[in-house]
Amino acid sequence: MAKKRKWQQLLAALGGELDAPESAMWSDLKLRPLALPEVDLDEVRMDTVFLGHGLRYPVLVGALTGGHRRLATINRRLATLTHRNGLAMSVGSQREQLVEPEAGTSFRVVRRAAPASFIMANIGAAQLVEQVSGPRMDARDLEQLVESIQADALVVHANFVHEALQPEGDTRAYGVLEALGHLVKELHCPVLVKETGSGLDRLTARRLEAVGVAALETAGAGGASMARMERRLAQWRGDDQAASTAATFVDWGIPAPASFLEVRQATSVPVIAGGGIRTGLDAVRALAAGADLVSVSLPLIQKAASSDNQLQRWMNGFLQEMRLGMFLVGAASLGQLRDMAPVVLTGSTREYVEMVNKRPMV
Ligand SMILES: Cc1cc2nc3c(=O)[nH]c(=O)nc-3n(C[C@H](O)[C@H](O)[C@H](O)COP(=O)(O)O)c2cc1C
Repeated sequence: MAKKRKWQQLLAALGGELDAPESAMWSDLKLRPLALPEVDLDEVRMDTVFLGHGLRYPVLVGALTGGHRRLATINRRLATLTHRNGLAMSVGSQREQLVEPEAGTSFRVVRRAAPASFIMANIGAAQLVEQVSGPRMDARDLEQLVESIQADALVVHANFVHEALQPEGDTRAYGVLEALGHLVKELHCPVLVKETGSGLDRLTARRLEAVGVAALETAGAGGASMARMERRLAQWRGDDQAASTAATFVDWGIPAPASFLEVRQATSVPVIAGGGIRTGLDAVRALAAGADLVSVSLPLIQKAASSDNQLQRWMNGFLQEMRLGMFLVGAASLGQLRDMAPVVLTGSTREYVEMVNKRPMV
């Protein structure tokens, strides 16, 4: 079932626009250039250290796919990109691998193509508690998934809006936080948590920090919309009612930049900013506002479905935009960019963040 779902997700991602209509407003974070940058463009470096691992660029190839024989090529291309450019990568949900070990092939190609890169394993938060679809996964199961790709960390992704809109989605959410608390203690590698539907709120972020997660990844409204994906899948199977319900939720959630800003403010763990990062300039905006890494997903699966060459060309453009953004604000390194914080919050993101800050943290 999950295996078929990953294949359908790929088709939906390739089948047209999937970004939420209210696209992520990263442009509300206005960069302040320096008229005389006093830095040479050639001098700009973006190397960083994330959870003890050196990266050439602060970019995470977001969790996307795997679990189906035909998805191995895409994962190999994403891993090759990661390896060649000194990025980090998360594989897509490995849920299927425990049920059907053969599904592991499409994940193991990742470690082969990126032998020394920072690679993260991936599982849904819903799998940490018992569901109608099956028993909960414990630390031993997850250790197996991590070991199968010699992952450096495990990402647990929460996306209950997506689960709720899927036929037979896993909608039991009670007890996930406690299960995460146990997992963090039992697993032999760092555990990260990301939210990619509703957006990560600051209260949950604080709770996750308190139970010991190593880092957080934010997303939310803007960027790839899983509701939009479910609407498309429902239309394809002729389920008008499910399509209409999914349509109601297409721009659901905390706007991605606002989610990042509230989590950055509320916690002191490393934060990866994701959701609708579409240009290198969006990346510099997030990094200038304190992101440790930025993650990009939808554009990469679309390019990876074409060829290695198309994927690398897209990334070349993205990295060049990052370099130009850093140059024009006068930052020769990520350390300088963070110290200078050349970013001014405007527009509806500012309004949203201000209103949230006025509320008690409940
Ligand atoms: C086709 C597709 C499949 C995805 N599968 C997963 C997954 O298995 N695990 C996960 O953590 N996130 C998954 N995501 C979410 C992405 O990693 C990311 O958080 C989200 O798409 C927002 O980033 P973007 O706007 O750059 O695409 C998927 C996204 C897409 C588009």
